[in-house]
Amino acid sequence: MTDRVEILEVGPRDGLQNEAVMIPAEDKIRLVNHLSHSGLTHIEVTSFVSPKWVPQMADAAEVMAGITRNPGVTYAVLTPNLRGLEGALAADANEVAVFGAASEGFSQKNINCTIAESLARFEPVMALARENNLPVRGYVSCVVACPYDGKTAPEMVKQVALSLLEMGCYEISLGDTIGAGHPEDIKRLLDHLIPHIPAAKLAGHFHDTGNRALANVDAAMTYGLRRFDSAVGGLGGCPYAPGAKGNLGTMLLAQHLHVQGYETGLDLNRLAEAEQLIQSFHLAPKSDPEAM
Ligand code: HMG
Ligand code: MG
Repeated sequence: MTDRVEILEVGPRDGLQNEAVMIPAEDKIRLVNHLSHSGLTHIEVTSFVSPKWVPQMADAAEVMAGITRNPGVTYAVLTPNLRGLEGALAADANEVAVFGAASEGFSQKNINCTIAESLARFEPVMALARENNLPVRGYVSCVVACPYDGKTAPEMVKQVALSLLEMGCYEISLGDTIGAGHPEDIKRLLDHLIPHIPAAKLAGHFHDTGNRALANVDAAMTYGLRRFDSAVGGLGGCPYAPGAKGNLGTMLLAQHLHVQGYETGLDLNRLAEAEQLIQSFHLAPKSDPEAM
């Protein structure tokens, strides 16, 4: 039997959130509809966040209402607070994600609160999601390093990840938000986490700033991780993480895994068409994240 690796597409959200030029909702909808027929089973479509913080995601409800759903695909959205979850429920999202950080500096800049405050803020989100039988994914950002605080201690990642799992997240996506990680960092982190958290509850979300995301995926796979986030066309970054230039490209990841004999279920021709579609968006060069 072929070993299967699940690729979770975050391009429409993590890929586009940092674009300086407003992309019309209809283009975002076309992209999601295209991706929905490329063999992906999980697409992070948008974020129900404050439009003051991330203007590009202000059309979340419109995008969710406009997409044509493929029953085989989970359509997920980010929800930082109860207001976000209410938006996600109204939009009939199949899954939501809360996002915390393993560093105080990034937590403050990204969601305007301390780590402890963020965990308290997630409690009612988890409760309402549970009432609505909505699965919740948990992100932990800055698992290797923070653009504000420097290196992150694996123990901090463990504490935040365990808190999110105890709250009811079904999985933790480990965010190397600024792509600072080397395989040795990922191994050190997983050496620390795996005794406490099974690999089946961990996913990798490795930004490719340093061109090491694939090597980091390989390192994580040696620990049994089989779920990885990537973005079509390698788009993206986080507006509150200077240096988070690009996500790991979905095509790059799929090809890398196929060559090693892993199955992803992805149709590379359809992915190539989605990449062409993005080119027609004429995305602007990256803005200075500090200026936002
Ligand atoms: P705040 O300013 O502390 O919150 O922001 P607030 O409650 O004071 O609200 C401020 C304003 O936003 C108010 O409007 C609220 O109504 C509104 P006003 O009264 O001033 O007109 N508001 C909302 N509007 C729509 N939807 C909402 C919402 N909540 C409040 N859900 C807050 C706190 C968390 C809201 C803000 O900081 C925020 O939205 N942050 C999101 C930042 C973000 O999306 N970052 C990118 C995603 S994370 C990421 O990329 C990392 C990841 O990829 C993993 C990795 O790479 O590591 C996941
Ligand atoms: Mg990210």
